[in-house]
Amino acid sequence: MRDATPEQDQTIYLADYAPVPVTVTHVDLQVRLDPLATRVSSRLTCIRQGPGDMVLNGELLKLRAVRLDGEELSPDAYSLTDTTLTILNAPDSFLLETEVEIAPQTNKALSGLYMSNGMYCTQCEAEGFRRITYMLDRPDVMATYDVQIDADLPVMLSNGDETAHGHWRDPWPKPTYLFALVAGDLIATHDSFTTMDGRDVALNVWVRPGDEGRTAYALDSLKRSMAWDEKVYGRVYDLSVFNIVAVDDFNMGAMENKGLNIFNSKYVLASPETATDADFANIERIVAHEYFHNWTGNRITCRDWFQLCLKEGLTVFRDQQFSQDARGFATQRIGDVLNLRARQFREDAGPLAHPVRPESFVEINNFYTATIYEKGAELIGMLRTLVGAEGYAAGCALYFERHDGQACTIEDWLACFEAATGRDLTQFKLWYTQAGTPVVKVTEHFNDGTYRIDLEQVIPDTPGQANKKPMPIPLAFGLLAQDGSEVVGTQIHELTSETDHLSFDLDAKPVLSILRGFSAPVILDFVQPDAERLTLLAHDTDPFNRWEAGRALAKDRLMRAVTDDADFDAPWLDAMTTLATDTDADPAFRALALALPSEDDLAQSLHNADVVPDPDRIYAVRRAAQLAMAEHLRDDLSDLRESNATPGSYDPKAEDAGKRALSATLLRLQTMLDGGKAARAAYDVANNMTDRMAAFACLLDAGDETVAHSFEQDWQDDRLVMDKWFMAQVAHAAPRDAVGVADRLTRHRDFDASNPNRFRSLIAGLTGGNPAGFHNPDGTGYEFLASWLLHLDKSNPQTSARLSTAFDGWTRYDADRQAMMKAQLERILGTTGLSRDLSEMVIRMLK
Ligand code: ARG
Ligand code: ZN
Repeated sequence: MRDATPEQDQTIYLADYAPVPVTVTHVDLQVRLDPLATRVSSRLTCIRQGPGDMVLNGELLKLRAVRLDGEELSPDAYSLTDTTLTILNAPDSFLLETEVEIAPQTNKALSGLYMSNGMYCTQCEAEGFRRITYMLDRPDVMATYDVQIDADLPVMLSNGDETAHGHWRDPWPKPTYLFALVAGDLIATHDSFTTMDGRDVALNVWVRPGDEGRTAYALDSLKRSMAWDEKVYGRVYDLSVFNIVAVDDFNMGAMENKGLNIFNSKYVLASPETATDADFANIERIVAHEYFHNWTGNRITCRDWFQLCLKEGLTVFRDQQFSQDARGFATQRIGDVLNLRARQFREDAGPLAHPVRPESFVEINNFYTATIYEKGAELIGMLRTLVGAEGYAAGCALYFERHDGQACTIEDWLACFEAATGRDLTQFKLWYTQAGTPVVKVTEHFNDGTYRIDLEQVIPDTPGQANKKPMPIPLAFGLLAQDGSEVVGTQIHELTSETDHLSFDLDAKPVLSILRGFSAPVILDFVQPDAERLTLLAHDTDPFNRWEAGRALAKDRLMRAVTDDADFDAPWLDAMTTLATDTDADPAFRALALALPSEDDLAQSLHNADVVPDPDRIYAVRRAAQLAMAEHLRDDLSDLRESNATPGSYDPKAEDAGKRALSATLLRLQTMLDGGKAARAAYDVANNMTDRMAAFACLLDAGDETVAHSFEQDWQDDRLVMDKWFMAQVAHAAPRDAVGVADRLTRHRDFDASNPNRFRSLIAGLTGGNPAGFHNPDGTGYEFLASWLLHLDKSNPQTSARLSTAFDGWTRYDADRQAMMKAQLERILGTTGLSRDLSEMVIRMLK
């Protein structure tokens, strides 16, 4: 036990892990649904496995009865607090019955059992089950379930197989966080899948009446995911039914409850008229992600929440592989790296940095982060590179065989790869325990026929961690001749020490293509001449690095424009034009290559270069670069857009999506020149939401004053489309107007802060979508955010805490902005009744 420091220190430590003295092997639940008085009767089969009292978790429960082996428990046989029920001197094996009452209608935290548009649903990860009944609410307690739902409702679902209307039996032992219950007036689209061992699985996507026409893509994605997991990982589904439910009020993306996945409706419902290409891609990815959890998460789960990356990093890696197979390796990889840099590198560079496997937390919901998910996935990718594709397959096979039915740790996972491949992974494990993005410094020397690359890794200090040890960094690289032909094909060099070097005997200095495919989540510190980057952009055999060379050229120019007022030079603009007009290249790739680094990406990079980022200047410089590109391409823009049109009916396939992405990029450039004329025409003829949103954004950028109103007239009854409407108006407002626009929209009749999608659209539309607006030098953006976080925190701490991360870059900025942000963080912290979620975040940001 730790020192008895103040009552409010609720920190939980990995080092304190201990198994429960009494475990539960079977759960029998009866749930009588009622909006304000739901009765939950539970009968737990309990078995002692060590000395100590049985401490069950419970929150916001009204306890009506406790019985042990059928006998009412006397008051001296148990004790009760706000969050626990302790059974004193429990016997070696017994049945524990409790009856509690809960009020799903008033649950606006969306954790536990709650109501959304009249339908009952649950979210139990991480610790929501304790809001349903008393239980050992931790992932290392795995039990089978029998669930009886009583209500006069047409659809009543839980995990496993239905044995009678409203009665469900889940034969697979699972932790509480995978429990789910859904009931209401729902409609399903049905399909089926035959497993590779010949069993038929019924597939259903359940939605609100009226939404059944938008389920086809989710079902199709589900079937493709099931086939892919059989083919690539040998994993077969294990129940006779797989249900997906779409819910409008949901804190996160989706949840992998056993046999009953519950999704944010944003990641299920799609039609060409209402969903964009990005929505379709997200649906495909998230359906796959949740389905893949059935093996990586459910059949093998986490011993404790510190091991969250065991299921999330691995499952993200698997969904990325799936999307690469479905959509093409290069564009998927580029998109995943952009996302990693935007969210995880930012997190890793600031006050919220934490290891992929943290060692302590106050509120686990604050650790569903880009580090645990996306960096966690990068670690799996590096492991695969280090042990090779065959070693990876062997390690995975051993993991599934050895640990099926268990609650595991990262040590268990790594031990499978050590056993299967013979490789010592001791040093690799540092990737899980050391936070911070390593910087790899690269310097080249060419002398008398010897080409030498010097390498050095530096891992920055992060909160609570200094003086880190070198980690094994797989560097994929190749060498090109100055004319662009490849002289050394892709090799992997493992940088394991702080410094290292590579030498080659060559006649001439080659062009280095390093970190191919983004083989490690590191920042390269490598000054490469423009001419060499142009060679890579034109000729590298590695498409990721072709894109990366273009990105480096653009970033250099934008940064020099910010710091030195540098011009946008003709060679760069020519290269951009070549890319734009290269009809042999994939349109999706061209769209990615023409996109400039985001404002926040530039702020990050400037900060890393010891320049205080000025959000207004960054905004202006990006616009100027776009204008320069537009002028350079002026004569081609219209024809280019024409030649990338996707006539006929909308198809979400990647090939068409790539053309639409390129066409949207070109329309943005056209808008810089014509003030919105082309965008207006595009808006009027759009027959799908992708083209419509692209044109809508351009018109907002151009200051069009009527389009927001007409968009609203067309779509006011569609909640998912209206989320886009809220977000786009804030994100595309002129920086000085953005806070005002956001504030005005909070008074719109359709703004509902209790709906996380709507709240996030508006708030993140400002903080993420309009950085110069959020960082308005008058401080109103900061005050606006803090006020809304405090407002939401009273009902939904999870979402409020998550959106507070917009403040995590506060120390990057000038003294005035820092003082204003700090004052808002302190205002939040000084508010009484703050949630544990938000207070933990603010305390970490202020440290
Ligand atoms: N396990 C879910 C997923 O990644 C995320 C659910 C997290 N929810 C939460 N409230 N922390 O697929
Ligand atoms: Zn997940």
